[in-house]
Amino acid sequence: MHKVSDLKVLYFGTPVVLISSRNPDGGANLAPMSSAWWLGQSCMLGLGNSAQTTANLRRERECVLNLAPSSLADAVDRLAMTTGASTVPRRKAEMGYRYEPRKFAVAGLTEQPSELVAPPRVLECPIQLECEVVAAHPFGEDNASATAFHVTVRRAHVEEKLIIPGTHYVDPIAWDPLIMKFCEFFGDGRNVRSSRLAAGWRMPHDLRAPAKVS
Ligand SMILES: Cc1cc2nc3c(=O)[nH]c(=O)nc-3n(C[C@H](O)[C@H](O)[C@H](O)COP(=O)(O)O)c2cc1C
Repeated sequence: MHKVSDLKVLYFGTPVVLISSRNPDGGANLAPMSSAWWLGQSCMLGLGNSAQTTANLRRERECVLNLAPSSLADAVDRLAMTTGASTVPRRKAEMGYRYEPRKFAVAGLTEQPSELVAPPRVLECPIQLECEVVAAHPFGEDNASATAFHVTVRRAHVEEKLIIPGTHYVDPIAWDPLIMKFCEFFGDGRNVRSSRLAAGWRMPHDLRAPAKVS
């Protein structure tokens, strides 16, 4: 039996991407995001307009999409509720966001130079996509509060163990992406840790509660 519901959140489960971009001072910014989908060598990224990443992508037109494995959930969670924007917008501040210019250090992740673009890769991420911005489209509610960036992959770096030998394909069994589902972190179908993002959004679910049988 289906029930009509005025769903408050439509985050059904998407891979977590750590997007690196270059700040105006030349340093690196790093932000978790999961509104990303691919078509061929193109990718669409949904980013809020208050994010430092959005400003960086508009200005520099380059980024690296570092795909996070489920084993990096702790590092991703350390980046949650941080922004590289020195002025934290009021809505974000109310949710508990803070300014953090040293994203790699806070996450405990390592910068690895890219080959074609200025922003660094994340060494610990087994899939790293060096990308160029093709177009930026206004997106979202509230007078286009977000931007949909169309990026194209210029170079892909993949940990050798994930490649099916003798091919240019990722082994789907070997690759275990970190999935953000309704603000919670999942790997291999299981909840892997608690989530600061879910707390910031005041999500009503309690993952420790036993499932109710009706
Ligand atoms: C797991 C996870 C997924 C997120 N997904 C998105 C997203 O798809 N789009 C977005 O705009 N923000 C997303 N956020 C929130 C951003 O990380 C947040 O806006 C952050 O301040 C961006 O960093 P920046 O301001 O340094 O660019 C996500 C956060 C987490 C922890």
